[in-house]
Amino acid sequence: MSEDPQPHSRSGRSAPVSLRLRLHLDPGTATMNTSSPLRDCQAWKDAGLPLSTTSNEACKLFDATLTQYVTWTNDKSLGGIEGCLARLRAADPNFAMGHAISAGLRLIGTGSSRQLDKELDLAVKTMVDVSKAQALTQREQLHVSAVETFANGNFPKASALWEQILQDHPTDMLALKFSNSVYFHLGYQDQMRDSVARIYPFWSPDVPLSSYVKGIYSFGLMETNFYDRAEKLAKEALSITPTDAWSVHTMAHIHEMRAEVQQGLEFMQHSEAHWKDSDMLAGHNYWHWALFLIEKGDYEAALTIYDTHILPRLQASGTMLDVVDTCSMLYRLQMEGVSVGRRWQDVLPVTKKHTSDHVLLFKDVHCLMASLGARDAKTTQEMLTTLQEASKSPGENYQNLLARDVGLPLCQAMVEAEAGNPDRALELLLPIRYRIVQIGGSNAQRDVFNQIMIHAALNCTSSKHKNVARSLLMERDALKPNSPLTERLIRKATAAHLMQ
Ligand SMILES: [Fe+2]
Repeated sequence: MSEDPQPHSRSGRSAPVSLRLRLHLDPGTATMNTSSPLRDCQAWKDAGLPLSTTSNEACKLFDATLTQYVTWTNDKSLGGIEGCLARLRAADPNFAMGHAISAGLRLIGTGSSRQLDKELDLAVKTMVDVSKAQALTQREQLHVSAVETFANGNFPKASALWEQILQDHPTDMLALKFSNSVYFHLGYQDQMRDSVARIYPFWSPDVPLSSYVKGIYSFGLMETNFYDRAEKLAKEALSITPTDAWSVHTMAHIHEMRAEVQQGLEFMQHSEAHWKDSDMLAGHNYWHWALFLIEKGDYEAALTIYDTHILPRLQASGTMLDVVDTCSMLYRLQMEGVSVGRRWQDVLPVTKKHTSDHVLLFKDVHCLMASLGARDAKTTQEMLTTLQEASKSPGENYQNLLARDVGLPLCQAMVEAEAGNPDRALELLLPIRYRIVQIGGSNAQRDVFNQIMIHAALNCTSSKHKNVARSLLMERDALKPNSPLTERLIRKATAAHLMQ
């Protein structure tokens, strides 16, 4: 088996996905061209992934939805993912896998839950009812169970079900993508890598979307510090599909983790035309671009990217990723001593609505940054109180269980640091610092918590914490040498006589 899948091509030649979809699927009538590269009932069966529907249109719309998910790009000519899902439901209301991809995407993309979103709750119930009323394949039954389990908040069990699918069906892209997303939310970095390693050799060049698997694998390698192998794979993916925004994103992470500021900036600039139209990921790629500028100390340029590309996306869509990017960017700039003006006031109306959601701790802590930044004490208190209540909820919800041990101390530490109690903040952070990975996100995203801890240590007055800042900075410098941001922090510590 090849360890090196080549470009896939449904039509025998490589073309941008959006172009392929436009060429072969008439968005107005959903009339399928028989030469369509999108898979019909027979094509899915031939691929070993049969779908329980007799509607070729439903099969092709399922493929169109999956493709847009994998490419992080809504194809406007098709009405985007939402448009495809609406037409998919109309094509076959009893298509179980159509219900599974629809509910799963909504759960993953919005960071919402059955408890908060009645429409979503109904969608999950409909999926289960539809699946019980017919004879599905075992693979389809597992997909339905996994989405239902995920909707109930049991992320580890949901990922185990998707893994069960991949054992027998290694080219099931939906199982691969969903499991990868859940591993990301769980902070299961090794699993995120190994899950793809297990199935990677099966993705021969003729399997649709195979080049994107390189990018998915590359991200797992990067998050587990295999930077050279990750870079090789991401570059291979981009040589096949330059518009692969996820592989661009992995390259940005690699430059970030190596503190390759200039190379990172040049890479983002040179590749921008390829990824700026990937509407689901472009905002986050701009966030990575701004991270290089913060590292460099060019705060004005970082704020320009924030104002031009990051905040407008939050205000237009308000997705979980937009919330996280926006809050993290402003919080980092403030820690660097940058005045962000009244920018928190633009963010708060979006984040405030999610104060008592508590679906993902990773989202909670970023929403907390906004209420702290905007000095909205009432919302901050509401966040802490409702999170405490959620942590006591019975049941299998993984995030609620984690809230008690990790989420609450982290939130309380941020509140204490903002209130001018750095010693207390440090006392809360030090015992949980190696567990913060469990709230999910990437190493680059979670670095904001490392920085919060270092700043708390720099401001400590207690003698028992006098060497903590030095220790944290020495380990940071060892892990990521030549970081201008670390060098600035070391200079600050030296000036405060915390380092020799
Ligand atoms: Fe990222």
